[in-house]
Amino acid sequence: MLSIADNEYITRVGKGTPMGDYLRRYWHPFMESSQLPDPDGNVIEVTLLGEELIAFRDTSGRVGLLGHYCPHRSAPLYYGRNEEDGLRCIYHGWKFDVSGRCVDMPSEPAASNFKEKVRARGYPVEERGGVLWAYLGPPSLTPDLPDLEWTMLLESRRMMAHFALNCNWVQTLEGDVDSSHVGFLHQTALRSSVGADTNYVEFDKAPHWTIEQTDYGMALAARRETLEGAKYYWRINQWFLPYYTLVASDVARTKIHSHIWVPIDDLHTTVWCVEWTTEPRDLTASERWSMTEGPFAHIPTLDVETHTLRANASNHYLQDRRAQKAFSFSGINGTREQDAAVVEGMGALVDRTIEHLGTSDTAIITLRRRLIQDARALEDGIEPHVATDGTSYRRRSWSAVLDKKIPYPESPEMREMAAIKL
Ligand code: FES
Ligand SMILES: [Fe+2]
Repeated sequence: MLSIADNEYITRVGKGTPMGDYLRRYWHPFMESSQLPDPDGNVIEVTLLGEELIAFRDTSGRVGLLGHYCPHRSAPLYYGRNEEDGLRCIYHGWKFDVSGRCVDMPSEPAASNFKEKVRARGYPVEERGGVLWAYLGPPSLTPDLPDLEWTMLLESRRMMAHFALNCNWVQTLEGDVDSSHVGFLHQTALRSSVGADTNYVEFDKAPHWTIEQTDYGMALAARRETLEGAKYYWRINQWFLPYYTLVASDVARTKIHSHIWVPIDDLHTTVWCVEWTTEPRDLTASERWSMTEGPFAHIPTLDVETHTLRANASNHYLQDRRAQKAFSFSGINGTREQDAAVVEGMGALVDRTIEHLGTSDTAIITLRRRLIQDARALEDGIEPHVATDGTSYRRRSWSAVLDKKIPYPESPEMREMAAIKL
């Protein structure tokens, strides 16, 4: 459990809160590049870390991320005219470039230098891996983008989707380091998707967990006994600060699946699902199919226009009680929909004072401690190292069947499997 004070500390993301300031040391994926396809195209409303913003692509192709309200008299810039390398407010015509600089102020005398003194709130944006990334922290501390493997691959080797959940980012993130729920909530999907690895998972249902704290976050290692006797089956999940998770690959180590939990505000989270191949090949049509369609799709009810789930709280996530009796543990279709049912169902901001954590919750306890420890360190003036070093993210999740004599995690074989080879 957490005290009321610690629960507030770890969950609140607004500017000026300790965790909000900590998160503002990192870049945040906030939109796919394809959502802003055209220069001088549409303006899109964005809420990120509790800040109301608007995004637009200017004539030169640069993306601006500005405060929602015009610095003149707070008209919404969303309605602005996207024209000639800037966004012009429709109230009195003030115009701002992608950095927020006021470049035209037609309502003031031509001789006035007032426009030099006015700025819209503007944040830097980078494009990488088909995603727009924003940095909302102090300009002098702008860090590297994280060298996540999928961001450095050709588009044909990766796919992604994202949607919004109505709950706080920490409870969604906690679900991804909570490995013990997978064998229950997701067991039907697991049986069908892990394929050849299912036998290993089913053979030993009580794996031995090793939680390794690392400079970049945490590695979660599940070690299982195997039929072979002299070998262990290893599954290694990764957590990268502040909110990236990598699910263990299959034994062939050809594909990796990742989730990202970006705070929209205190009570809403954008969930990103990214999958890529570690081999120098394109993803196949059927691999792409498995994300949003197909018999055991990862997010079968995703509405790609609105970035929301059609199975949601308003319809009890389309739970099918007959399926639950017959073959499905949860009665809910889709791994992400199953997670949404439990994490949104806790309430938008779960009360951690009433929970009872057991030994299977060790990873969650470790994650909370790490986030609180890092945010407290920042309050004491210690910057988060991993935020400043993009190479910290050059790691993979993996799984393998290895001789029992190979020691975790320091053996060269295991280091090799966690390394990215571009
Ligand atoms: S409120 Fe935007 S120009 Fe006046
Ligand atoms: Fe889950």
